Amino acid sequence: MLDVVRGKRVMFVGDSVMRSQFESMVCMVQAAVPRGARSFDRVPPREWDVTLEYYWAPFIVESISDHATNHTVHKRLVSLDAIDKHGATWKEADVLVFESYVWWMHKPFINATYAYKVAMETWANWLEANINPRRQSVFFMSMSPTHLWSWEWRPGSDGNCFNETYPVEPAGRPYWGTGSNLQIMNIIGDVIGRLRRVKVTFMNITQLSEYRKDGHTTVYGERKGKLLTGEQRSDPKNFADCIHWCLPGVPDTWNHILYAYLLHSYRS
Ligand SMILES: *[C@@H]1O[C@H](CO)[C@@H](O)[C@H](O)[C@H]1NC(C)=O
Ligand SMILES: *[C@@H]1O[C@H](CO)[C@@H](O)[C@H](O)[C@H]1NC(C)=O
Ligand SMILES: *[C@@H]1O[C@H](CO)[C@@H](O)[C@H](O)[C@H]1NC(C)=O
Ligand SMILES: *[C@@H]1O[C@H](CO)[C@@H](O)[C@H](O)[C@H]1NC(C)=O
Repeated sequence: MLDVVRGKRVMFVGDSVMRSQFESMVCMVQAAVPRGARSFDRVPPREWDVTLEYYWAPFIVESISDHATNHTVHKRLVSLDAIDKHGATWKEADVLVFESYVWWMHKPFINATYAYKVAMETWANWLEANINPRRQSVFFMSMSPTHLWSWEWRPGSDGNCFNETYPVEPAGRPYWGTGSNLQIMNIIGDVIGRLRRVKVTFMNITQLSEYRKDGHTTVYGERKGKLLTGEQRSDPKNFADCIHWCLPGVPDTWNHILYAYLLHSYRS
């Protein structure tokens, strides 16, 4: 991986699911980097031979939730046609990996599907106008599945992903949870399919991740930057996180696939 992206900036753009994919990549490559030769900074990114960066943009387009650490979760205002503030940073990257999904699905009072479509079109137009396909490569990660309702894989039950220790057993046909919206899937497929000048590699990781009801952080994570208290941990119904993934875990697999794509284009 370090040879493949030597001298390059690899930028992961999206929400906290994307942040864990970035962390997964950092964990996997750091074993190969001598201690004195690695650095980890918040802002600004430091130039080194290889730079892996994470850029917080939960909606990809601009929103009032764009501050990396101080952002609102419950009140959301998204500017569906504004992207240039983010784009100014993205332009500098050699490899861009995008993702945006779960923030759109949080109790939307509007047609989130339509809003998502408009935002993705803004993003696609930005790519066409700003990306140099000879120098830069662009990836888009499909939605990361959630396991918020245990009735989906165990009919009649009333829990979530807490206490799950095995993946979903495939029962004749591939398992697909209701959290993974196929309309959104089709929108992103259409938008990427219509690009003319820039090619985006769509990494369709949803199906392979759907089975992993056992892979989430549940009560062993944090909320608002703080580890859950014992009391919160004993209340998984309210506090289990069934959106984010443990590391090592599922995001490592996504990165193995990303690595395979990068290696392939490096060799050719
Ligand atoms: C976080 O953002 C809000 C709204 O912009 C602001 O009032 C507050 O001072 C900020 N807090 C910190 C710690 O920066
Ligand atoms: C929301 O927008 C999508 C995409 O334009 C459309 O297919 C769907 O019918 C709309 N839904 C509602 C309830 O208006
Ligand atoms: C989780 O599993 C443990 C051990 O099997 C059990 O004692 C506990 O009741 C389970 N909790 C829930 C919420 O299912
Ligand atoms: C991604 O994979 C799923 C499941 O295999 C499939 O239903 C969907 O159409 C694919 N999406 C795109 C845009 O190709």
